[in-house]
Amino acid sequence: MRERAKQKGEPVLRDKSFELLIETVKAKKPFRILEIGVNVGLSGIAMLLSSPTSNLTGIEIDEEKIKEAKENYRQFGVENRAKIFQGDASEIIPVLTGEYDLIFLDGPKGHYYEYLPHLLSVLNVGGILFADNVLFRGYVDGTVKTPHRYNTTKHSMEKFIKAITENENLKTTLYRIEDGVSITEKLK
Ligand SMILES: C[S@@+](CC[C@H](N)C(=O)[O-])C[C@H]1O[C@@H](n2cnc3c(N)ncnc32)[C@H](O)[C@@H]1O
Repeated sequence: MRERAKQKGEPVLRDKSFELLIETVKAKKPFRILEIGVNVGLSGIAMLLSSPTSNLTGIEIDEEKIKEAKENYRQFGVENRAKIFQGDASEIIPVLTGEYDLIFLDGPKGHYYEYLPHLLSVLNVGGILFADNVLFRGYVDGTVKTPHRYNTTKHSMEKFIKAITENENLKTTLYRIEDGVSITEKLK
């Protein structure tokens, strides 16, 4: 399904980053997972199949994608462990009340920094924040020149990286693979 989704141009997680996510989920065995940016549900399904005791809450803005994701959850038999909140993550994240053991941040790239305080407040101590696209097309580490229209997103992502790497309550590893992945553990 991932191959088919890639061919259709769906923005699915790239292969090495996908493997890293699944390794992390298998090692962590999170009881509750939060996914920002569900798309058609492929990463969510993979996480749930890798960790049979996990439950997933997703946030997705696109109603059509949600319909497909729900159908995909059914096909893979994980529909009883997955729910989706439909709407803008900027509005939903601040009112989340749950506690999560793993958060997969894969939504709009210009908003990671804005989401961060809220996400950390619903992440349990010992929990993991896994973020994709943190090098944002090579613009963030300067390997690719940033087109003017992406300057705001790039600066916001730089602030996100600074915040997760300089906060002493967090331990972050930055992976320079594909579009960049960060894995942050909440220490206290
Ligand atoms: C990269 S895709 C997610 C891919 C998915 N995690 C996977 O690997 O299978 C990003 C998703 O975020 C959704 N999205 C974009 N802006 C959003 C927002 N403001 N709030 C919630 N979801 C949003 C898009 O519709 C898209 O489906």
